Amino acid sequence: MSAPVSTQSGGEKRWTVLELILWTTGYFQEKGIESARLDAECLLAHALGTERLRLYLEFEKPATPDERARYRELVKRRADERVPVALLTGAKEFWSLPLLVTPDVLVPRPDTETLIEAALHALPDGELSILDLGTGSGAIALALAKERAQARVVAVERSAAALDVARRNAERLELAERVELLQGDLFEPVAGRVFDAVVSNPPYLAEAEAAELALELAHEPKEALFAGPLGTEVLARIVEAAPEQLRPGGWLALELAPAQAETVTDWLDQAGFESIETHRDLGNRARVVSGRKPRGED
Ligand SMILES: C[S@@+](CC[C@H](N)C(=O)[O-])C[C@H]1O[C@@H](n2cnc3c(N)ncnc32)[C@H](O)[C@@H]1O
Repeated sequence: MSAPVSTQSGGEKRWTVLELILWTTGYFQEKGIESARLDAECLLAHALGTERLRLYLEFEKPATPDERARYRELVKRRADERVPVALLTGAKEFWSLPLLVTPDVLVPRPDTETLIEAALHALPDGELSILDLGTGSGAIALALAKERAQARVVAVERSAAALDVARRNAERLELAERVELLQGDLFEPVAGRVFDAVVSNPPYLAEAEAAELALELAHEPKEALFAGPLGTEVLARIVEAAPEQLRPGGWLALELAPAQAETVTDWLDQAGFESIETHRDLGNRARVVSGRKPRGED
């Protein structure tokens, strides 16, 4: 990034907020970054210690040399190393909740809001117990705890470092009292307990897919993304164990890759689930499969 240090009449050029945004948008576009303008605005707001929308009130304000130096470093890491914006700013909004994110967690995706919408439709307000498997930043557990004020949520995560991020998010959002965070492998920390709902956005990529993925994914934890050689390994383990951990009439919902929806639907059917549904994201891709354990069973 060289232009924002160019000179004017012998001295250093004063770069206004708008000029910095416009220059960086063009630079990111040249580098093939899709959300170029939005990324430029988010990074500049972070470098200036302000909110993105406040930049619109300060377009003509010149940035100080310190602010520009901070911004230049962020722009460089975004363009050259493809670090996701959320990992540069340490923040990501999910379901309107401001979440902390670090390289120890998957950056919550808008796709996962499909799971939240499906859950709010399926789960009435009231005293509910919800289990979130592989909670990462806590995104799903915290969004459901926020929306269902009487629910108690248990969030399980294998990575201690990720669980620590979820704990900080729960505390910041004042939801820690209703969100129990447990470290361990899938259902193992909740053996013998039953829930009204089990939800998960598990790792569901096949290891062989690693080479074709967006460069940005290299900055997120491998164990959050890859399930094994097939991609469906963790989904299969959840479907197999879920009936034991759900109350009769309990609801299971799994986020997955669109190409896995049919297979997982078949598994739910074979496992005796009823009311099996596929939920689509805004791009009309199958994103979540859900089903209910029959009421007649224990
Ligand atoms: C795709 S990320 C989802 C994170 C978060 N729920 C979200 O939607 O943004 C999957 C998470 O599951 C965790 N995980 C992977 N395998 C697990 C296992 N066997 N038991 C518990 N957690 C696991 C990973 O560490 C990662 O945090």
